[in-house]
This record gives sequence, C-alpha cells and structure tokens, in this order.
Amino acid sequence: NKPPIDAAALLAWYDNNARALPWRVSPADRARGVAPNPYFVWLSEIMLQQTTVPTVGKYFAAFTSRWPTVQDLAAADRDDVLKEWAGLGYYARARNLHACANMVVDEFGGDFPQTAAELMNLPGIGPYTSAAIAAICYDQQVAVVDGNVDRVVARFTALDQPVRDAKPFVKSFVQQSVPKRAGDFAQSLMDLGATICAPKRANCLICPIAENCQGTKTADPTNFPVMPAKKQK
Ligand code: ADE
Repeated sequence: NKPPIDAAALLAWYDNNARALPWRVSPADRARGVAPNPYFVWLSEIMLQQTTVPTVGKYFAAFTSRWPTVQDLAAADRDDVLKEWAGLGYYARARNLHACANMVVDEFGGDFPQTAAELMNLPGIGPYTSAAIAAICYDQQVAVVDGNVDRVVARFTALDQPVRDAKPFVKSFVQQSVPKRAGDFAQSLMDLGATICAPKRANCLICPIAENCQGTKTADPTNFPVMPAKKQK
C-alpha cells in the first residue's frame, strides 16, 4: 500500500548532485566503467560508523597515503595503526581493521570477497558494512541502510513506529526499490539523507522523490521518525 521509492528519479538527481568524496567514484566515471577501490570503500565505511564525513576525510587521507593498499595496511605494525587511528575513538574498530586487512591478504589473496554473506565473516564487518561494500563495489542488489536511510524511509512511509522497532520493514522497503545501479542507488539514498532529507529540515520542495512520499503530505515531515516512548518512572 505504501508506494515505493522512484529509483530512476533518485538516480537522475544523484547523477547531478552526488557529493564528491575521496573514496567515491562519481556516477559519470562509474558509467564509464571505473570501479571503486574496495580497500578505500571498506576503510571509509569503517571510519564513517561513528564519525562525520569531514573528520573522516582527514583520517582517510592519512591512512591511504601511509598505507596505499590493503597489503600495506596488513603489513603495518598494529601499534602504528592504532596511533594513526587516535582521535577516531572506538579502538576495537582499529584492531578489527588491522585483523581484517590481514585476513583479506592471507585468506583472499588481497582481494575483498564480493558477496555480502562472505564479507560478513571478516572482522569488524557487520550487516551494514557488508551490504555497503557489496553494493558500492560490486553492484550487488542489496539494501544498504544506515541512520540517514532510516530517516528517509521513516519520512517517506510516514512510519508510525520508532525505527528501532521496524528495522526489518525499513530494510525490505529499501530492498524492493534497489535497481541495477545498486551502488549508485545506495549512495544516492545516503546523500539524499545528508543533503536534502536532513535531520532538522526536510527540504521537500527540492526533493527528487517527493512525489511518492507520505511524510511530505503530513503537517510536518520532520515529525518522522517518531521517537521511542519514554520509560515510565
Ligand atoms: N556514510 C556512510 N557511508 C557513506 C557513503 N558511502 N557515502 C556517503 N555517506 C556515507
């Protein structure tokens, strides 16, 4: 009953409005057959888990100039990796990062596996990161749902329950719209959430998918996602 996301309209917007990010291949270059660097995509997705894009930019540049390939990172001293990570927090992520680089080199000959299911077996890679790498690097048609996408879908469907109680719905709702250009689609939803359907403003007048959006028909789309009820004291 809830109309789906118009993937073609979203991709047409993304073709002209994709953010230029150091680890990203532009939609024009992707169309020419340029493939993303899985090492860059993996590294950026791990860094982005609890850190903003501007901060990650600096760390990403430092890591990739010091360790340009996954082989270089695997061969690095673990303490040097932890030192370079200083400031990003959550040191378990840095330890997993080094362990994952070593597993990719030792068990996969330096090439990241290409399916979300295999990627899930690597240290530090969970359901989100495995889907992101599979879609962005290999155009696997999987739903990639981060916090931005949660918000976009909650508004788009005028979701009447907190996102944390509707995770399977959000994932299957995105899944039904994933087109052939799965990597660009995943990134277009993230960019839409970051630049248009933002936490405090929805900017529906310039949104490429407003037509099917249920939230924009309500008094205030930023009422979505609805918050979990506060616990009684
Ligand atoms: N946040 C997390 N991953 C991202 C990506 N690939 N592009 C934009 N924002 C992101």
